[in-house]
Amino acid sequence: MRQIASRARVSVGTVSHVINQTANVREPARRRVLAAIKHLGYQPSLLARGLRRNQTTIIGMIIPDISNPFFPHIVRGVEDVAYQNSFRLMLCNTDNDVQKEQVYFHELHAYRMAGLIVIPAADSSLGEPNGRGADVPLICIDRKPAGWRGDCITVDNVKGAYEATRYLIEHKHRRVAAITGPLRLTNAQQRLEGFKKALAEAGLPLVPEYIQEGRFERLSGYEKTMVLLRFFPPPTAIFAANDLVALGVLSALRELGLRCPEDVSLVGFDDLEVSAFTNPALTTVAQPSYQMGARAAALLFERLRGTRTQPQHVVLDTVLKARHSVAGPKR
Ligand code: RIB
Repeated sequence: MRQIASRARVSVGTVSHVINQTANVREPARRRVLAAIKHLGYQPSLLARGLRRNQTTIIGMIIPDISNPFFPHIVRGVEDVAYQNSFRLMLCNTDNDVQKEQVYFHELHAYRMAGLIVIPAADSSLGEPNGRGADVPLICIDRKPAGWRGDCITVDNVKGAYEATRYLIEHKHRRVAAITGPLRLTNAQQRLEGFKKALAEAGLPLVPEYIQEGRFERLSGYEKTMVLLRFFPPPTAIFAANDLVALGVLSALRELGLRCPEDVSLVGFDDLEVSAFTNPALTTVAQPSYQMGARAAALLFERLRGTRTQPQHVVLDTVLKARHSVAGPKR
């Protein structure tokens, strides 16, 4: 700053006003400062600026499973809106580990993030009164921690799962099973609720062993399919609580020498890119993942600009994408 001031023949204060646009500077002086900055190759220290303001222009984002292709689409929505607002993103992955989530949550505060966007891990403590200590805006996406009363962006999981299960029933399936996500998560609970609602509406019995609690992972879909198909009579259709689980179902069917949909019909949830290219192409429930991220970021910037409305729970819609993994039952 002193070198720039000397070269531009102005005070250090004037240099600071030009860099931070904190006051009007006469044009000739402003041009001399900009020329000196260019000549000296000066880069303002964003770290120093953050320290001075006790806040950065960085948004912290915490996601539960970076290996699940569903989440990068949400991150993309957040990052686009942050960039449009001249903010940057710091991304943290918890692997669904609550302790890791707590470490990240407190460190992101220590780094003076301007705001936080969190997709909570199962059993997250963010909703507990002392779990926060948050003095910056915090938006939850996709699932609500127990006790959470702040802003949240989710989809209508009940409606999506209901439509997926009804689609199987409309294809004359009467023995319909579900492989759920971890039922400690609100999105997994809501998808199971939608599944049960469709069965009840059709007057079909709820067979307890046809409901297998899994994890939102491919291996879980494989394992639970092996369990389901050992029952007699076996289910003729499976609702998988996300597309990774559905991929696991397909690999189990292949291993058992069974065909989808001829022997077992299948519907997933998420509409990952890969789901249109599986064999058969997967019927699934599309989530507006990009919009979930973009809406969360937009709400965060409203909070940063001082909007003090009541906390919002925005529920976005889902769409059933019918492809080729569902047909009428063989027997
Ligand atoms: O956490 C895993 C799942 O939750 C994703 O696949 C998506 O369905 C999200 O809602």
